[in-house]
Amino acid sequence: MDDLTFRAAEAVDFSTRIHFNTALEVMEIDLSNVNFADRAIVRQFYDEVDRQMATAGGRWYFLVNYENCVVAPEAWDDYALGGKIANVKYSNGTARFGASEETRQTIRERAEAERFRSNLYATRDEALTVLASLRRRHHFLGRGSRLDPGRAADVLLKIDNVSLRFGGVHALQQVSFEIERGEIVAIIGPNGAGKTSMLNVINGFYHPQEGSITFKGEKRNQMRPYFAASQGIGRTFQNVALFKGMSTLDNIMTGRALKMHKGLLWQFVHWGPAQAEELEHRKAVEQIIDFLEIEHIRKVPVGRLPYGLQKRVELGRALAMEPELLLLDEPMAGMNLEEKEDMSRYILDVNRQFGTTIALIEHDMGVVMDLSNFVVVLDHGVKISEGPPSEIQSDPVVIRAYLGMGH
Ligand SMILES: Nc1ncnc2c1ncn2[C@@H]1O[C@H](COP(=O)(O)OP(=O)(O)OP(=O)(O)O)[C@@H](O)[C@H]1O
Ligand SMILES: [Mg+2]
Repeated sequence: MDDLTFRAAEAVDFSTRIHFNTALEVMEIDLSNVNFADRAIVRQFYDEVDRQMATAGGRWYFLVNYENCVVAPEAWDDYALGGKIANVKYSNGTARFGASEETRQTIRERAEAERFRSNLYATRDEALTVLASLRRRHHFLGRGSRLDPGRAADVLLKIDNVSLRFGGVHALQQVSFEIERGEIVAIIGPNGAGKTSMLNVINGFYHPQEGSITFKGEKRNQMRPYFAASQGIGRTFQNVALFKGMSTLDNIMTGRALKMHKGLLWQFVHWGPAQAEELEHRKAVEQIIDFLEIEHIRKVPVGRLPYGLQKRVELGRALAMEPELLLLDEPMAGMNLEEKEDMSRYILDVNRQFGTTIALIEHDMGVVMDLSNFVVVLDHGVKISEGPPSEIQSDPVVIRAYLGMGH
């Protein structure tokens, strides 16, 4: 009986445990009663996944059965890393079911640390339903290509050969890419890659030493943030930047400042004449509050709101400017799963309902896959790849940089 664990581990034939449901584009992996007792069996499992994927090709939705599955502590690192690589290389999204409370907890912790979505469900039906709706959403979005392939590109923003240095730090090195009107572009890359710097260049916070930015056909080398905003570039920040003591309503109202002929200060001083204009702006703000479903907190000082809601208010303030190009710096950082789902939905709705072009920085590859039409990858200030999300995910250069595995 001593080596039962070992024998059980050896005995698993993974080739019989992987099934493809072509209609649903689901690859179902049955890990029930599997004991990942050591690193060897973990390797055996992922080798089999690689083998099967080499035959099947393309990308699949992963459905994983964890009933009675055990991963030994010493095998967890390999197991998690293998999962991450498989996800990046082959997966359109993963749903897991049947995990014991202990396994669920470990998966959740890993997911938090490594920024993937744990997507744990109680039953197979539930998990399958989630994948099916994910698939519908992807199809609806036409993900995987730029909008309307075939027609002449309608370029809203063109970044041409931009280099930005801070002393000896090369934050951006000869970066070029384009954003087409109406699309959602994701800017990804490891920490310190230059993502935030890129947004800061776009909206005029930083002035690149080299290169140019063309927005709506107008070329510029330098631009003040105020001017960028009045030209239609809205922005949220990596760390929430709101007036904590002010209410949700008033914070969003500050986003209207540029739209106001008489200016906020003028309005405070001369209440009477500006009243009609004020009312009109209130109406616009109320619509945004309605859209973001934050009626219940309109009077609450934002400093008292949970983080996820603060992020939503900040999105509201950016929307109040009615931007043509919306820049979002990690809009989902620090959020839990439900908050991420909500935020994803609002971002998609903004794009669809208002036709707003969006550039967003995001670490969660699942979110990138869900939302974007096009991905730009930065690493050490250099653009190392760009393309539709499905291609980017299997690009070895990206995998190496993003997962920080190679040199
Ligand atoms: N104002 C600044 N002064 C000096 N160095 C800066 C400044 N802003 C950014 N940098 C440097 O430029 C590089 C890119 O930073 P940036 O914040 O753009 O990266 P990032 O991709 O947004 O990273 P993260 O994922 O951590 O947010 C880093 O080396 C950073 O230290
Ligand atoms: Mg950043």
